[in-house]
Amino acid sequence: MEHPDNPLLIEALNRMLAKEHGCAIRYATHAAMVTGPYVDPISHRFQEIASDEIGHAGKLRERICALGGTPTMEVDGGGLRAAVTLGEMIEMNLQEERGAIEDYAKILQDVPRLDVLLCRTLEDILKDEQEHLEELIDLAPMREENGSRGQTRVRLDVRTGVTAQQPGVMSSLDSRD
Ligand SMILES: [Fe+2]
Ligand SMILES: [Fe+2]
Repeated sequence: MEHPDNPLLIEALNRMLAKEHGCAIRYATHAAMVTGPYVDPISHRFQEIASDEIGHAGKLRERICALGGTPTMEVDGGGLRAAVTLGEMIEMNLQEERGAIEDYAKILQDVPRLDVLLCRTLEDILKDEQEHLEELIDLAPMREENGSRGQTRVRLDVRTGVTAQQPGVMSSLDSRD
């Protein structure tokens, strides 16, 4: 479908493509580096999310080509900072997912609704990013050491029906596999 603003749209999609490259590298690195009692399920899930991000990059490349553009091979390294602890990883990924959700939502606003293919593609990616964000929020009790921790657990318990603390969080993580 022809867009009057093709160059701008291609530029925006390429910006997201470079970010997806960075996201895939970040999650894959975190999957390798994570330590602690729940290393296996968390590492596994980070690896799966890295694969999701690679999938997003593939979808963006297809759409960029369809619009007459050239997919970038650049990596946006903005989200690639050193993280050692699980808490740092969760915090970093929360920030990046929130940013991605905002960016994709903005791009979607400028895409004509009748371009169903591009809209669907962006909505599908956005849905994945929202799921990633929700999962990271579920992991947040493992990051926080302050008084808000109890509140977060209560919300999680309502959603998952799990009453345990960290084991409960990890059970819900396992069940998503
Ligand atoms: Fe993504
Ligand atoms: Fe994501």
